Amino acid sequence: MIRPLSEANDWGFDTLGDPQLSEMFSAAERFQWECWQAGNPEGVGENGHRFPVGHWLTFLGTNGTGKTHLAKALWRWFMGEGRHFQCRVSGANLVHYGIFRSYRKLIDDLYSGAWSQLEDMRDCWFLVLDDVFGASDPRNFGGRVSDMLAERVGKWTILTSNLTMPELASKDRRLASRMIRDGSVVVENETKDYALRPKIERQRPCSV
Ligand SMILES: Nc1ncnc2c1ncn2[C@@H]1O[C@H](COP(=O)(O)OP(=O)(O)O)[C@@H](O)[C@H]1O
Ligand SMILES: [Mg+2]
Repeated sequence: MIRPLSEANDWGFDTLGDPQLSEMFSAAERFQWECWQAGNPEGVGENGHRFPVGHWLTFLGTNGTGKTHLAKALWRWFMGEGRHFQCRVSGANLVHYGIFRSYRKLIDDLYSGAWSQLEDMRDCWFLVLDDVFGASDPRNFGGRVSDMLAERVGKWTILTSNLTMPELASKDRRLASRMIRDGSVVVENETKDYALRPKIERQRPCSV
């Protein structure tokens, strides 16, 4: 049996009865569940149960609403139990490879010539790319990042960006279109910055 992950999660994420935060949280849990099943296919295939196909989860919208927070929570889960799986053929215990990358740091690295990072990101099993387009990029190296992402169709990928979908589409129409295709999910919010909510509303101290 697959362990119900929600019982073991410690997300530290307040949904505060806000429908937009709740939608972000549910999307993160669903992504985690499907990714877990893809890596640990126990029970999959029985009773018409479909094997989850890798896809993208993108969080867009207002600053300070927990997009990076949720992406990091999923990354911590991946680095803990999410990356371990058992080979169905040999029964060997194996480990999937994943990368968490800040877009700004990636662009800095590309400006220094570290192109091989793009190949690693293209090929890894699980990728988080945080704060897409959140960097000054006068030579448009972001185009190379989009090319890399285009090759991640069908792979577990989490993206966050403080842009709205129309803003993102005006920068990179092809990337915006991939975000919503092939079973990929976009959750866009325009809710209040967590740090600006009254303390009484927040469940835990904000560490900004
Ligand atoms: N819903 C939330 N529950 C708990 N903490 C939150 C929530 N939203 C934001 N925070 C906290 O506020 C700060 C900024 O959140 P962050 O995830 O970086 O926002 P962004 O949406 O801009 O990526 C972080 O310290 C994060 O942990
Ligand atoms: Mg962020």
